[in-house]
Amino acid sequence: MKDRLLGIFDKFYGGIKDRGSAKNDGDIKVYFAPGRVNLIGEHTDYNGGHVFPCALTIGTYAAVRLREDDRIRLYSDNFPDEGIGEIKAGSFKKLENPDWCNYPIGVMWTLKKHGYDVNRGMDIAFYGDIPDGAGLSSSASIEVLTAYMMNDLFGFGIELKDIAVLCQYSENKFNDSNCGIMDQFASAMGKKDNAIFLDTSTLAFEYAPVKLEGKELLIINTNKKHKIATSGYNDRRRESESALADLERDIDISSLGDLSIEEFEKYKYCIKDPVNKKRAKHAVYENQRTIQAVKALKENDIRKFGELMVESHISLRDDYEVSCREADIIVEEALKLDGVWGIRMTGGGFGGCLVGIVDSDKVENIKSSIGKIYKEKTGVDATFYDVSIGGGPALL
Ligand code: GLA
Repeated sequence: MKDRLLGIFDKFYGGIKDRGSAKNDGDIKVYFAPGRVNLIGEHTDYNGGHVFPCALTIGTYAAVRLREDDRIRLYSDNFPDEGIGEIKAGSFKKLENPDWCNYPIGVMWTLKKHGYDVNRGMDIAFYGDIPDGAGLSSSASIEVLTAYMMNDLFGFGIELKDIAVLCQYSENKFNDSNCGIMDQFASAMGKKDNAIFLDTSTLAFEYAPVKLEGKELLIINTNKKHKIATSGYNDRRRESESALADLERDIDISSLGDLSIEEFEKYKYCIKDPVNKKRAKHAVYENQRTIQAVKALKENDIRKFGELMVESHISLRDDYEVSCREADIIVEEALKLDGVWGIRMTGGGFGGCLVGIVDSDKVENIKSSIGKIYKEKTGVDATFYDVSIGGGPALL
């Protein structure tokens, strides 16, 4: 992949005479930051609950060379028709075109706002092998990649955990997307063969080895991008906040993640709106499921882990209402098959991917059975990814 990035870089910048007199071609560096899949703990991160994601071996790459002037040029081989975006170091404003550039620009803007000044020009070529819109955090990976790269090139000395926080800030404030911390944290803090058990109310975390022994993770893309993903996400945040506000009038809590199931059942009468009550139920139960799932994994109880994954899906479908017909079909069909231990939608929802745990010796059969019936029922081809759990950002 490094060579591929160097090739892209050379094609777009190498032959260009005006290099702002960078010293020599050897100054090109190639970096990587991963995407993520969340095993369980969905829509809990902005509710003060727990999440359990892991970084993937797929993600976003960039080749970069500093310039002697203040021109920053950005090209992505995922959007070749959109050309090169250009800004000036220190003047980080949104670009109308290419708009994907607003992820890296947002990170530079955020860094500057926090006292880390990206004060030199550079040429950057990006390429990502995460499918776009699949809910595997291509945006978090380009954000973390940019922050990691700037941190290294400019010697800022920012810790990885703080990179995650800065990248979430960037996405919230520059890209106007109200996401929680999970995706950026998973990308920045990823560890090979481990998932990250993160308490989003304190950012305390621990790594948990994912040893599946004869079983593996299977990621299935519905290939359905739902238009209401952003508005639906923001609605859910509002509904959860409203439920919390009702509860706070009677009990002393600061997030839905503070509640046990018993406490929720005792106090749920405080939540006036029946829809908000369902949302809060999901947030509370999902948080407790995540805690139980990590315990099950530590005890090597994959059966229990899988059952909790399915409960998570049902709750996301019925109470949080962020699943979609396509994802529900895959879950329903997968559960009829031999060798499927658990499966659920993953990420924000309204389309995107599912994650399952399946027997390795049955995976091919599972893929073809699901692929066939999914096509029959929806007319769309599902895509299956053989991914492994990878580490965090790196200089290659
Ligand atoms: C998106 C957001 C995350 C999280 C998930 C749902 O991926 O970016 O912060 O809220 O949805 O769990």
